[in-house]
Amino acid sequence: MQNPAFRIEGLGGIQELQGEIPVYGAKNAVLPALAAAVLVPGLSKFENVPGIADIPAMGALLEGLGARVTREGRTLSVEAGMISSSVLESTAARSLRASVLLIGSVLARTGSVTFPHPGGDVIGERPIDIFISAFQKLGATFSESGDAYTLAAPNGLSGGEFFFRVVTVTGTEAVMMAATAARDVVTLKNCALEPEVIATAEYLKSCGAHIEGAGTPTIVIRPSTLSAPVKTHRIIPDRIEAASFLALGALAGKSITVTGCEPSHLDAVLEGLRYMGVPVTVSGSSITVRAPEKLLPTRFRTHEYPGFATDAHPPFLILLTQAHGDSVMIESIFDGRLKYTEELVKMGAKITQVSPHRVNIQGPTVFQGRHIDTPDIRAGLAFMLAAIIGTGTSTIGNAHLIDRGYERIEERLRAVGVRITRV
Ligand code: EPU
Repeated sequence: MQNPAFRIEGLGGIQELQGEIPVYGAKNAVLPALAAAVLVPGLSKFENVPGIADIPAMGALLEGLGARVTREGRTLSVEAGMISSSVLESTAARSLRASVLLIGSVLARTGSVTFPHPGGDVIGERPIDIFISAFQKLGATFSESGDAYTLAAPNGLSGGEFFFRVVTVTGTEAVMMAATAARDVVTLKNCALEPEVIATAEYLKSCGAHIEGAGTPTIVIRPSTLSAPVKTHRIIPDRIEAASFLALGALAGKSITVTGCEPSHLDAVLEGLRYMGVPVTVSGSSITVRAPEKLLPTRFRTHEYPGFATDAHPPFLILLTQAHGDSVMIESIFDGRLKYTEELVKMGAKITQVSPHRVNIQGPTVFQGRHIDTPDIRAGLAFMLAAIIGTGTSTIGNAHLIDRGYERIEERLRAVGVRITRV
């Protein structure tokens, strides 16, 4: 069977989308929560779990370790009392970059972990050197055999201090979760501040972990004994989904309301929209936007939270192609992330790549429909937006990659007037 694709009929510049688009639970919050569940000898329940393809992939890895994973609607249960293996199944681990999150919890739970280099998105080089140094600093040994790496700490991790040379989201999460099982206090410095880090800490705290400072640059973890949480842990809303749908509303909305989001996680996005002249109304967990008569050009530079998220860059780059004048997108986190813009040029965009980290954009331009295979989740969403506002018919191939991060995207888009089918 061929990979699925999305066929989209362009609106040809008519701003007629209207209605509500719900945001589901955050991919990048549920993945670390599931990895952290490995540390908890008992049953953990998670609610607001999105129906995205990365979840069964992570579930399969957990089951390979000996956990039992069951799903009922948006509630996922992990019974990790019987974790017995310390080997991450190679094919599944390679297909999911977030498998790297399991390194910390499996090492801490079983005394060792064997894993391949994690795979995942094609967004440039994604090393794991900092993970390795952190665990070595906490007393683990590291060895390589063929394609497999092993970290071992048979007597448990020691305490100590570790400074993240580069701010890393999954690195902060993986080391923080492992540190709950360390013999002494662990202090982590230059940590990622993302809401997903705080959410992971909250789940661990509900299981008895002593963690202070999550959401600040310094996190202190004291030796903890974890047990099954009393409460079901609710996954926070996906701020990248919210940003993507807000970009759609700003491009083609008569009035689009994005519901179920957490506006306080979206400061950089909302500020960017307002700066570009987009009318934005926030009401509780809903945000309403519409396309302004004229989008103003600007400059975005991706940054760690609370700066402008790298995962929100592709949809916002589409916004910049429609602004009247010269704009700039600086991608400061990932080397290869701007490569997808070459396809946008083939659709008619005036984008010049001046370095692996910077493109200049001249707007506004009209996108011509065509076929494009997406290399990753977020570029896929950007191609969809370009196809929606463009002329003619487009097909976006590798829809399964978009399914990794957006649950039944076509149904939610169709509900606001997008002419989209899965083929
Ligand atoms: N880095 C290193 N060495 C390491 C780890 C990271 O040099 O050992 C570098 C990376 O190469 C990159 C920078 O650190 O230049 C930051 O990357 P980070 O480690 O923060 O990325 P990540 O944790 O692998 C998470 C999200 C990504 C998101 C980034 C940045 C999850 C599961 N993934 O990845 O999400 O782009 O943070 O915010 O949380 C996506 O959802 O589409 C996605 C790619």
